[in-house]
Amino acid sequence: MNIVAFNSSPRDNKTSKTELILQKFLEGARHAGAATETLYLRKYHIKQCLGCFGCWLGNQGQCVQDDDMTGELLGRFLEADLVVLATPLYHFNMNARMKSFIERTLPMLNPIFMDRGNHTIHPFRVDKVPRIAALSVCAFPELHNFQALSLNLRMIFGNNLVAELYRHSSEFLTVPPLQFQAGLVLLAAVQAGTEMVRQGKVSLETMEALTQDLAPRETLIQMANRYWQGEMARQEGPAPPEQDEDSVDKWV
Ligand SMILES: Cc1cc2nc3c(=O)[nH]c(=O)nc-3n(C[C@H](O)[C@H](O)[C@H](O)COP(=O)(O)O)c2cc1C
Repeated sequence: MNIVAFNSSPRDNKTSKTELILQKFLEGARHAGAATETLYLRKYHIKQCLGCFGCWLGNQGQCVQDDDMTGELLGRFLEADLVVLATPLYHFNMNARMKSFIERTLPMLNPIFMDRGNHTIHPFRVDKVPRIAALSVCAFPELHNFQALSLNLRMIFGNNLVAELYRHSSEFLTVPPLQFQAGLVLLAAVQAGTEMVRQGKVSLETMEALTQDLAPRETLIQMANRYWQGEMARQEGPAPPEQDEDSVDKWV
């Protein structure tokens, strides 16, 4: 199986928690015999979709623009058996870089409206469409922060979306006091990659291990606020005001 992962985090690979989970997943996939490659979207030039429908009319399924999406990335996407779309959660959804990438896959669709019962889709223009695994991380300590992203991806990719791997409290995965729990999460990410290759899906047991809490959410909120208040205090200027309960939930 040929797996191509697209990571849209702007952060370097040592800092990015998307990268942390993604590489564990790919390690498990390789263990099960897959060939894997990671492409970092921050290193590519991806123009915004022009909305011209040139790829649907007159341009034979090709985008009219000339950049890395037409030159390399769409081809790499379509060739893969499994694509991993790995994005940090930004404002409760994929980040803008991943959104631009997905919008530029429009050439793989056919303009025809296809009636699928109670909703309408565009059928694929291309013969082979990869299966898609979504992977995302977020800082808040609740899994429900991925609801909008999940709905969005299911509407975009339909039955081609075969796995959704979401990890909340991402920034705590590298905090020393939580290393035991974090280790269990990372092991589950490896197991998810192995299962994806061997069974074509990730088991409920592995999903539960991947999404387990690192600590009670109140503890994580306190740890986050201690960190941010400390960092803010280190900056020049007046000390930050004490946070009240309302402002705690605004930490993203
Ligand atoms: C612009 C921006 C928006 C964010 N929005 C959210 C959010 O809606 N919910 C959340 O829990 N974390 C949010 N975060 C935190 C990131 O999801 C978190 O830091 C994650 O680990 C980043 O992934 P990365 O390390 O791979 O870049 C946001 C971060 C940034 C920079």
